[in-house]
Amino acid sequence: MSDTFKALLAEQKDGATQVAIREVNLADLPAGEVLVKVAYSSLNYKDGLAVTGQGKVIRKFPLAPGIDLAGTVVESSSPDYKAGDEVVLTGWGVGESHWGGFAQMARLKAEWLVPLPAGLSLQQAMGIGTAGFTAMQCVLALEEHGLTPADPREVVVTGAAGGVGSIAVAVLAKLRYNVVASTGRAELHDYLGQLGAKQIIDRAVLAKPGKPLESERWAGAVDTVGGDTLASPTTGAAAPVPFGMSGVTASGPGAATAAVSGAPQFSQKRSSGSAGSPQAAHNRAPVSATAPSAVTTASSAARRWPGRPGGCARRDRRWNGPG
Ligand SMILES: NC(=O)c1ccc[n+]([C@@H]2O[C@H](COP(=O)([O-])OP(=O)(O)OC[C@H]3O[C@@H](n4cnc5c(N)ncnc54)[C@H](OP(=O)(O)O)[C@@H]3O)[C@@H](O)[C@H]2O)c1
Repeated sequence: MSDTFKALLAEQKDGATQVAIREVNLADLPAGEVLVKVAYSSLNYKDGLAVTGQGKVIRKFPLAPGIDLAGTVVESSSPDYKAGDEVVLTGWGVGESHWGGFAQMARLKAEWLVPLPAGLSLQQAMGIGTAGFTAMQCVLALEEHGLTPADPREVVVTGAAGGVGSIAVAVLAKLRYNVVASTGRAELHDYLGQLGAKQIIDRAVLAKPGKPLESERWAGAVDTVGGDTLASPTTGAAAPVPFGMSGVTASGPGAATAAVSGAPQFSQKRSSGSAGSPQAAHNRAPVSATAPSAVTTASSAARRWPGRPGGCARRDRRWNGPG
């Protein structure tokens, strides 16, 4: 094995972040029990901030960004892994304070790794990535709080064309929930229909403040946006609505409103899944202020994927992982 490998290295010079592909030594990698030959990473929003020097994502320079990775163990001093094992990593501050997936090699703590679930390739695992894991956790949290596909009402996904939202739409549709996709991008309506959304709602509809005693519409929500968008689905419900929250893209006072309305708030993760008929999205009239959709269970592959940091849903019900 060569002592050198290529990495996308972020360095700081004169207060500015500079990123370039560099040849680095194995000895430059931080400490860890397991050396992994990286096969794939994914490009998360957080990685975009890291490589452009925004948001102070990188806490230690020099560092290879990349908040997730999938690869093969080369060396291990941990009894949990041996050379040849295929592993996946999401979160744990990797790509932020520890060298991450945008490199040919990574040295990692054994406890951060998860064996590649059976039935998934390394490429598929990173096709799902942290955004998918997040979406799946949202769906699991909804189900843990009683949502089932038997509920005739709708489940709304906000930020539906985004990384977390698009996978949440696909998973929910695959599980036969009645999914409504909320988006600001009209040009992606067909795409969301192909993922399985039965209705598409313009994000402006949910951004309007809800009215007291509005008729009940939603069975649940996966909210990746926050702000008034988060508040709206809770006001269209007679009883507390299960919420899967993954972020505060449009943060504002609405987030507080949601908490006050009694809606439990969780976080998420995801799985793959094709979904529903593309035509279905267009068979109904465009959404008015009230539409229903349905959500449900996790795929077996996703269920095998243990929840852990990065996945807040089961731990403390607040997101404090990657993404
Ligand atoms: N990706 C992860 O792994 C991860 C993990 C944990 C938490 N999170 C958090 O979850 C949130 C979503 O992450 P993401 O990766 O899905 O981001 P993303 O791919 O950028 O998607 C965010 C979506 O939010 C919608 N949006 C953007 N600006 C908006 C605005 N002003 N008002 C209403 N909607 C707006 C857009 O949806 P449309 O295009 O459909 O309009 C956009 O596609 C973020 O807050 C992120 O920090 C992400």
